[in-house]
Amino acid sequence: MVLQIIHTCLPDKKILALLRCSMKIAETVKDLSEKLSRAREGGCSIGFVPTMGALHSGHISLVERAKRENTLVLCSIFVNPAQFNDPADLEKYPRTPAADIEMLERAECDILFMPPVSEIYPQGEVQGEYDFGYLENIMEGRFRKGHFKGVGRVVARLFRICGPVTAYFGEKDFQQLAVIRMLVEKYHLPARIVGCPVIRENDGLAMSSRNVLLSAAERKDAVLVSRALFAAQEKAAGLTISEVKKLVHGILKSSPLIRPEYFEIVDGDTLLPLAQWEDAAFIRACIAVKIGHVRLIDNVPLNVPPA
Ligand code: PAJ
Repeated sequence: MVLQIIHTCLPDKKILALLRCSMKIAETVKDLSEKLSRAREGGCSIGFVPTMGALHSGHISLVERAKRENTLVLCSIFVNPAQFNDPADLEKYPRTPAADIEMLERAECDILFMPPVSEIYPQGEVQGEYDFGYLENIMEGRFRKGHFKGVGRVVARLFRICGPVTAYFGEKDFQQLAVIRMLVEKYHLPARIVGCPVIRENDGLAMSSRNVLLSAAERKDAVLVSRALFAAQEKAAGLTISEVKKLVHGILKSSPLIRPEYFEIVDGDTLLPLAQWEDAAFIRACIAVKIGHVRLIDNVPLNVPPA
């Protein structure tokens, strides 16, 4: 099936180059399990990078980190229907399998797992329901009902399929990272979690698979999201929390295209909103906006020295 997809997207020369590639592609759980067992018999440590494809340099930074810290790197591409609360969002989610394979091959990924939906959610198989308490209802959870339950379902399934791995996740999805840490701890899954820094475009916009969905005008104004976060970072030490919020909303208001969903200053460990700087040592500013039909999220650490 993968070859069929590649065929529709690439000229013949490129297909030949891909056929010569050394990255192995598994489409079934059985095939992946056999490949991983063989690797483990050979004493390999496995670094795992789960993704939904439409890869960019943010994803590749995770593959590169996994590569540095493990003998074998496994990446998965699976657009997980269970985590989309809006069917239109699932429908328009970018899918670029041929370009993804090329990028992973160049990054020297060893195994790519690209399963169809039926492999991850076999009919009739009982799927667990995961509970993340308040963590799944704040910030992202307020605007994407059931989203983190869907993320929990797929990541738990992937971890169970893969067996013991070190798994790499981006801080770009800061709340997701906290949810996954809770998932592993609470449900005793065989993974060690590593958080990796946000990778940005030259103008500061956090890289995201969804950025390609922005029109030229929307893309131009999208830079205000990171600009507002950087202003918060720069000014936080001299302002109160509510003054920082005013500053950020003021910057976002300069574009009629941006509709803020939330801007929260939270304890970086619990993700609970802060009333005053003194209440946490590790502080994160998290934002979500809509620009046109595209939803963007971003976050930065805030360093506020004690008064
Ligand atoms: P996806 O959005 O494809 O992201 C895959 C991984 O890449 C996540 O860990 C995400 O945080 C990281 N990532 C995305 N943009 C990044 C950036 N600009 N800098 C650094 N890392 C970045 O997140 C998901 O997929 C899914 O929810 C998934 C965990 C795969 C479960 O379906």
